[in-house]
Amino acid sequence: MHFLVLTSSPNIDGLTAACTSAALEGIRQAGSSADEIRLNDYRVGMCEACGNGWGTCQADHSCQVLDDFQALHERALKADGLVLISPVYWGEMSESAKAFTDRLRRCEASSGRDSRLAKKPVLAVAAAGGSGGGMITCLLSMERWIQHVQARPFDLIPVNRWSREYKLKAIQAAAFSMSSNPAW
Ligand SMILES: Cc1cc2nc3c(=O)[nH]c(=O)nc-3n(C[C@H](O)[C@H](O)[C@H](O)COP(=O)(O)O)c2cc1C
Repeated sequence: MHFLVLTSSPNIDGLTAACTSAALEGIRQAGSSADEIRLNDYRVGMCEACGNGWGTCQADHSCQVLDDFQALHERALKADGLVLISPVYWGEMSESAKAFTDRLRRCEASSGRDSRLAKKPVLAVAAAGGSGGGMITCLLSMERWIQHVQARPFDLIPVNRWSREYKLKAIQAAAFSMSSNPAW
């Protein structure tokens, strides 16, 4: 199986990066493959709410705002599952994660049960490296996103600097379990 690990921190050696390494390790241990996508390295603008609120996302399930989104959208559809790892900013996903997931949701949630992400497992991780707060509100919006695109919430893991040591092990174990599950 092949997974896409989407990360959204500008920091290349912070908590988000440590969570990403743990997830990649779990996937590889299970004999699956993964591509890491550092969303901050791509040009993905925010949704422009085209037309009266819907653009081509509604009928064609593609985004008319042309940038790096289209290629990443294709890669997400080809993957057997996703790992979404975001630093917690103001109790929410970071801006790069929000921009990408907002546009992906519009394209796929508008298909209802025919969403091309339907039933794909998603492991979501909220990494709070500051006050340590806001992990749950961040995961809440990640969970809502998973529901809207009809994917499966394989697990939702909060991590902060106090829980880091044992949560990295949990992330690795969750990624291993998700990518060795024959159910998908
Ligand atoms: C704009 C902004 C808002 C933040 N808000 C929170 C927050 O609500 N809770 C928290 O624990 N940390 C917060 N932080 C700290 C980040 O979660 C912390 O830097 C985290 O470790 C980011 O991951 P990184 O280590 O990969 O950079 C914030 C950081 C920034 C830049």
